[in-house]
Amino acid sequence: MKKNILYLITVIFIGIFISGNASAADAPLLEDLMEKGTFPMIFISILGGIIGLIYLYLTGLLPRVLLPIWIWIDERFALYRYVNAAKREYYSVVFTLMPASGRTMPRSHTERYNVKAVWYWYPFYCLGGLSFLAFIVLTITGIYLGFYYVPDGEFVVDEITGKPTSGAYQSMELIMTQVTFGYIIRAVHHWGAHFMVASVFLHMMRVYFVGAYRNPRELNWMLGSILLLITIMFGYTGYLLPWDELGYAAGTIGLEMAMSVPAMGDITAQLVFGGTVLSGDTVLRMYWLHVFVLPVIGFGLMILHMALVWIQGEAEPH
Ligand code: HEM
Repeated sequence: MKKNILYLITVIFIGIFISGNASAADAPLLEDLMEKGTFPMIFISILGGIIGLIYLYLTGLLPRVLLPIWIWIDERFALYRYVNAAKREYYSVVFTLMPASGRTMPRSHTERYNVKAVWYWYPFYCLGGLSFLAFIVLTITGIYLGFYYVPDGEFVVDEITGKPTSGAYQSMELIMTQVTFGYIIRAVHHWGAHFMVASVFLHMMRVYFVGAYRNPRELNWMLGSILLLITIMFGYTGYLLPWDELGYAAGTIGLEMAMSVPAMGDITAQLVFGGTVLSGDTVLRMYWLHVFVLPVIGFGLMILHMALVWIQGEAEPH
């Protein structure tokens, strides 16, 4: 019964999709629906997929679905051998380096000094993970906004109001007023950014107050400092993108700061802001930093940061 209902819903969805595409040209209502509904539909499909996976997992059906897929791939690429070899290699390295203490290398503070762990510190150990979660949410909402945002900072006069505006600002207006779920997705992106800055900072405080920055985790502390810088740069570059009064004012302050660097002020301004005066180039530069340079570098460093935690183990509270 349940299966049939799921089947019916899927068919209806596919039907709407196909008929919408086929008759889009001659049916303005459907075209409008498709224009507004395509991306939410993609999001709903992804959400449906995730819920489906959770359902399969909870009912114990997941292995029965995944195993044939895995066998199909394994027959062609012998992946199982590679995964096994990688696992063997990982554990042999870890056990050679720290035979007595399982995976934690070297021993944590709690083990080394035989101190009692202070349980009420534990919730603070979530903060690094929460920072990463915020990053994932920001990536997903950012992709949605990227479909509509236009990085055009050249000022033009608005024909209706007679006030200066720009392609960037107009695209923000579109997101806030026309795009389905646009204002919600933008709000989630906005608050997600605040959340990430706060949780990264609190995570750093936790690491500091439990003394986890000490030997052997000095390098990971430095890596973390770079991640904090990247998080702040994410915030700054994103703040400028709407090219509204706030963004423009923040750009002015940043530009003045760059220009005041002794001896190489102009070069710094050129590099960071695309010139010594704010212009359309500034927005394009901030955009590319925000959606490509920082995500690529940031994501790589986050994975490295968490891989080091995996290798070295957590420093428990003491
Ligand atoms: C984008 C930012 C960051 C992400 C996603 C992140 C992620 C994580 C995660 C998931 C952990 C595992 C333990 C936990 O969750 O507390 C961790 C541990 C750690 N992080 Fe971060 N972190 C970030 C920023 C920072 C910053 C700003 C610092 C310090 C300047 C830092 C230094 C450390 C250190 C030293 C550890 C090891 C702590 C221990 O062994 O107890 N991280 N990080």
